[in-house]
Amino acid sequence: MKLIKASDYDELSKIAALLIKEELDNKPALNLGLATGGTPIGTYEELIRLNGEGQIDFSLVKTFNLDEYAGLDAKHPSSYSYYMDNLLFKHINIKKENTHIPSGDAADLQEECRAYDELIESMGGIDLQILGIGTNGHIAFNEPADRLSIGTSVVDLTPSTIMDNSRYFDSIDLVPTTAISMGIGSILKAKKIILLISGQSKRNVLKKLMEIDYLSSQLPASFLLLHDNVILVADMEALGEAI
Ligand code: GLP
Repeated sequence: MKLIKASDYDELSKIAALLIKEELDNKPALNLGLATGGTPIGTYEELIRLNGEGQIDFSLVKTFNLDEYAGLDAKHPSSYSYYMDNLLFKHINIKKENTHIPSGDAADLQEECRAYDELIESMGGIDLQILGIGTNGHIAFNEPADRLSIGTSVVDLTPSTIMDNSRYFDSIDLVPTTAISMGIGSILKAKKIILLISGQSKRNVLKKLMEIDYLSSQLPASFLLLHDNVILVADMEALGEAI
């Protein structure tokens, strides 16, 4: 894993956006894997700015999001579909039909999972995957557990993730307890991965990730060690004393 240190969140966001720009410059029809959560918001703001200035073009880009809450339809304000539309898609020149997010309200969630992996595969796979990390080491919604899914699957959220994510809901009781998430295998198939880690609340998990030299299903992000093209961009608040 290659580490890029950013002085603060703003710099992290600028670095991440430039890394994405680099890939887009090389391949305008990029298949871009996208993440949600608080961390990538600054990166998306930068992408919007660069797109507005004509420095990047999304007209040929296809996007694939990592996950979606089960039971929420795309119009629900806490759904990841709504998040993506409002924080990125509606501000850039991407074609709506080229954006893909699992449907949390699909009638058959298992079928939705199977179809999602197939869709990604049929479109040539993900070139660049943007990732955040949960305070408990989850990537997408692959939570610490005895077993981790290889492909996209329906997953149970842990109490700590439900607590962390309750800030996006009116009350903690409204946070779904299950989600559709790309699996560890689906994520590792991406040709390149950018992992963004920001803020003091991630200091502990970042330290664990930098120290671990084996795979642990209790630290799902440790599986990124299997990939030979991961760039970790972390800010000083997250790095703390770790470096
Ligand atoms: C959610 C998402 C993850 C994301 C994580 C961290 O659980 N499913 O993809 O990485 O939140 O979010 P934040 O960046 O807000 O800490």
